Amino acid sequence: MASRRLQALALCLTFVAILGSNSVNAAKLIIEDTLNPINCGCTDVDPHDSFLSGHVGFQCFDQARFGACSQPFMQTAIREIDEGYCQISCGRCDCCKSMEKILKQQGLNMFAWALNFTEYGEYIAMPGFMATLLAPTDDAMNDMLGKLGYENKEAVESDSNAKGIVGDIARYHILLPIAEIDSLWSAPFMRKNAVMLSAIRSGTRTVGSHTGDNGGQHILLQGAKSNASILQTDIEACKGFIQVLDTALIPFAMTGYN
Ligand SMILES: *[C@@H]1O[C@H](CO)[C@@H](O)[C@H](O)[C@H]1NC(C)=O
Ligand SMILES: *[C@@H]1O[C@H](CO)[C@@H](O)[C@H](O)[C@H]1NC(C)=O
Repeated sequence: MASRRLQALALCLTFVAILGSNSVNAAKLIIEDTLNPINCGCTDVDPHDSFLSGHVGFQCFDQARFGACSQPFMQTAIREIDEGYCQISCGRCDCCKSMEKILKQQGLNMFAWALNFTEYGEYIAMPGFMATLLAPTDDAMNDMLGKLGYENKEAVESDSNAKGIVGDIARYHILLPIAEIDSLWSAPFMRKNAVMLSAIRSGTRTVGSHTGDNGGQHILLQGAKSNASILQTDIEACKGFIQVLDTALIPFAMTGYN
């Protein structure tokens, strides 16, 4: 854990260095130690098209989505990567959990249910999916449904318009990797005025922190139509983090949130 924080700090410093130097072309920068939240011995090395070019056509997550995990080239031990390519994405790693398993373990069932109205419902079950999830508690999700005017889960499931709305709200809680540095948002980076883009391209801003009832510091997030506190930070999945929120964030005006 401590070494990851240091890694995060090192990455943060690198990032500041990038931002501070206008003459550097970000596309040419090589970040040697990208932030991978994995806390166990497994790797997830993307297969290169050629060792000479080092070019990666498809990352491990895509290879797993395409069903390529059983292909011989993925499993063969080569000198550089004894364990084969894409050990995590292909489910050959016992020491970390998919986001779906973590959500279940933490009792964040309503958020997992809402993700099922999007393509991400399928992705969170895949251990190679890389993202930071802002997961509201079940109470927060139920409050949100109530404000939208839906009595319960069934009322949403039987209404295609409602499924679309709840799906958009779920997407607003997914922070995809920052493309330029292929790294994820984690709590140490959520400083005042950080803008974190969600999977609907609309952002959430970190507005600071406050002391919660239990004396802990909670990070405050400002969404477009509601605000939330992070109750629990950086729960680790194989290739991502889960942040537990006390309130659902709302991306645009809708019934109950004007
Ligand atoms: C989401 O959908 C998958 C696949 O249909 C299912 O296995 C899973 O139980 C669903 N999750 C929730 C929380 O409803
Ligand atoms: C969210 O917080 C911001 C700044 O702290 C405040 O201006 C805004 O009114 C809040 N929004 C809601 C919906 O409470």
